[in-house]
Amino acid sequence: MKHSLWRTKPVAQILSEAESKEGGLKRVLSAVDLTAIGVGAIIGAGIFVLTGTAARDAAGPAIMLSYVFAGITCILAALCYTEFATRLPISGSAYSYAYASVGELFAWIIGWDLILEYTIGSSTVAVGWTHYLSECLKGFGLTVPTWLLALPVGPLQVNVAAVLLIVGLTGLLCFGIKESARFNALMVLIKLAVVLFVIVAGIPWVQPANWHPFFPFGVSGVFQGAALIFFAYIGFDAVSTAAEEVKNPQRDLPIGIIASLLICTVLYVAVSAVITGMVPFSQIDAGAPLAAAFGSVGNALAQKLIGLGGFVGLTTVVLILLMSQPRIYYAMARDGLLFPWFSKIHPKFRTPVNASVVTGLIAAIMAAAVPMEELHHMVSIGTLFAFVVVSGSVLIMRYKTEETPQHSVGAVLQLALGLTVFCFGLAHDFSKPVQLFGLSLTTPAFFLQPVGLLGLSLAQALKILTGLLIMAKPLYTLFTAKQVNIPTGFKCPWMPVIPILAMAGNIYMMVNLNIDAWIRLVVWLVAGLIFYFVYGQKRSKLAE
Ligand code: ALA
Repeated sequence: MKHSLWRTKPVAQILSEAESKEGGLKRVLSAVDLTAIGVGAIIGAGIFVLTGTAARDAAGPAIMLSYVFAGITCILAALCYTEFATRLPISGSAYSYAYASVGELFAWIIGWDLILEYTIGSSTVAVGWTHYLSECLKGFGLTVPTWLLALPVGPLQVNVAAVLLIVGLTGLLCFGIKESARFNALMVLIKLAVVLFVIVAGIPWVQPANWHPFFPFGVSGVFQGAALIFFAYIGFDAVSTAAEEVKNPQRDLPIGIIASLLICTVLYVAVSAVITGMVPFSQIDAGAPLAAAFGSVGNALAQKLIGLGGFVGLTTVVLILLMSQPRIYYAMARDGLLFPWFSKIHPKFRTPVNASVVTGLIAAIMAAAVPMEELHHMVSIGTLFAFVVVSGSVLIMRYKTEETPQHSVGAVLQLALGLTVFCFGLAHDFSKPVQLFGLSLTTPAFFLQPVGLLGLSLAQALKILTGLLIMAKPLYTLFTAKQVNIPTGFKCPWMPVIPILAMAGNIYMMVNLNIDAWIRLVVWLVAGLIFYFVYGQKRSKLAE
């Protein structure tokens, strides 16, 4: 356990570093600012764009339940996040939490993984934003010049508008966080008004007949839908990345994280109920489902307003995602795992200016050239993985003793493995061939025969059973061992049930994503590990 891969950063050291740092970040944000940051980051392309395809192709009207399932799973993960964030009210998000509990290697993996969430996430939403730009201008009788959306450069069609958005917002972020938070609060108000408008103005158009059949794709469609719209909840963790800039973190962080998530869950379920009630699920628009629903009932004014709301709404999401990433780079560089250049704070504006510029640059390049659909799954799997690690880390932190810290790490890793095998068993019967590197892999037919009462195939039943066997021992350990590190501030309730359910729910959504997303996640993590072993492991401040 003393091996460098497992070295952990003492919590007291993390806190004193954050407090004593000359020229550190300014403590200016309140609970209301944080809730606005959360809502600003959460409501975006997920509800405004992805609801359409998820309802039409995966869940049908039961998309409401997909939102409930994904929302509850995120709230469970958020309770774990909150316990960690109040233990460590500093920049870095899941990265810092893992550094204090599981160890340096895990912290690195998670920090690296969060680049998928924040940087690729901001590119994804910026591309979605350009669709709303067209939608919005169309409402006013204007058209976006073609070159702004697809400028031919060699074999690529460069999305110039998305690049301009990212460059503009990066400039704003370099200028100062308080200014950005004010800008965000205004945008969030507009966005909330539009979402409430969709609900209130849409109710009279709802025809309950459109909710039948409620499960056109079966119950499994609910979970596939949940994996697709999970993207809509991404962003609540952005609240914790601003922790070092919060006036009263012990009180304000829990309020900010939980309040923003609860508000969004209620709004999402209501919006999806209204949209599937207004339009038969098979006719829901794939590009701009909310605006188009009002167009389909002949309400052109509402369609325009929603087009405008989507345009504003997606702007705030890109802003918050771009704001979160540099703070993770900053924390990693401060620990020596990334080049120190990333941790430079601007002398006048007191913002992590170098890290902000690099984030903007990478996000702009991705947004310029890669289509939105290709990025979306990668962002979701990266974020789900981060949530699993945070939920596991909260367990490790609670049970870790000084003498045998490896026991709790081992138990949680084994639990994660068991849950993954179990969830693969529940979610997949592999009756369709899996495409892998151009090969088509099929499961032998006898494995696919249903066995027993639940209609599970033999392959599924075996996986479920193996998963249960793997997790039996760690579950027993977690339910019987004594908790040693109970935090003095916010405590995740119902220990260890909540973190275990959070891990299970997030892993279940991961297994509902396609194999390509898994391959990209693995490739990305391997690249990160190479960088860690070549650079970070030797330069880590803890190595000194
Ligand atoms: N939750 C954010 C969105 O839906 C990322 O755009």
